[in-house]
Amino acid sequence: MSDGTAPGLQLVLETPLGKLYRGDCLDLLAAMETASVDLVFADPPFNLKKDYGEGINDALADDDYLAWCHKWLAECVRVIADGGSIFVYNLPRWNVELGHYLTELGMTFRHWIAIDIKMSLPIPGRLYPSHYSLLYYSNGKPKRFERPRVPIPTCRHCGGDIKDYGGHRNKLNPDGLNLTDVWVDIPPVRHRGLKRRGANELSERLLERVLTIASAEGDLVFDPFGGSGTTYAAAERMHRHWIGIELGDTEPIVARLSGRTHHVAAPGRGDAGKGSNRARPTASPDHQSLF
Ligand SMILES: C[S@@+](CC[C@H](N)C(=O)[O-])C[C@H]1O[C@@H](n2cnc3c(N)ncnc32)[C@H](O)[C@@H]1O
Repeated sequence: MSDGTAPGLQLVLETPLGKLYRGDCLDLLAAMETASVDLVFADPPFNLKKDYGEGINDALADDDYLAWCHKWLAECVRVIADGGSIFVYNLPRWNVELGHYLTELGMTFRHWIAIDIKMSLPIPGRLYPSHYSLLYYSNGKPKRFERPRVPIPTCRHCGGDIKDYGGHRNKLNPDGLNLTDVWVDIPPVRHRGLKRRGANELSERLLERVLTIASAEGDLVFDPFGGSGTTYAAAERMHRHWIGIELGDTEPIVARLSGRTHHVAAPGRGDAGKGSNRARPTASPDHQSLF
């Protein structure tokens, strides 16, 4: 890949560990070598008619959205090395289809991780939506896998254990419990003063966990949808190499990685009620709702 000279790509930041481009991730992927990346984390737009700025259409027909996702997923799979992994963060409604496609591409299913969300809005005629989906697939047998431990849950009022562990409390590992595939401790990034971009900044705790599970120091991490640069910030802190790209404004990422703050007005409510104000479907209602 020749930096900054690939058509449509501009190298906007280089650190000792990473490179950030401005442009379309499909153009960058086309310039990346096969089997060159250890871990992909992808948090694409969810097709919820959000305003991501010029050149980004977040209101595609369902089939067009899935066709676009298939394009970048196939390319991501091509660049993942043997034993590498991919995580895809999306609504359950989309990830059920994207997981199937990853299986068709020959990837190995590891987990559907449910990320508990708070403050969602009820959807008429549906169960109350309460999680985002994080798909975890590997390219064959995973080269890296570390299962983090999480603190033993305690009552926030009395400080005592919430469960009795069937009388085997003394046999629990003092380092904590094994992490499950239901994550209830990932906070939304919703605070006006902290949010670095208008839409969808993820918690660094989520990225730290993903990088801990499926990468090691010196590995190469790729995130095709930069947003506010959460993946790249976590990679820097955890000494992973990284490649990043953002089609829209890259200044929030550059400011973040350069230690400058960049405040934007964040919506008061998070994204947890996604899909609740989607236009009523005209046909096949069961297939149009987002949860
Ligand atoms: C959901 S946000 C990612 C947020 C990010 N995970 C974070 O924590 O800040 C998706 C981002 O992808 C960007 N994007 C959309 N289409 C793109 C494309 N074709 N290539 C690169 N970036 C794109 C959008 O501008 C948006 O910033």
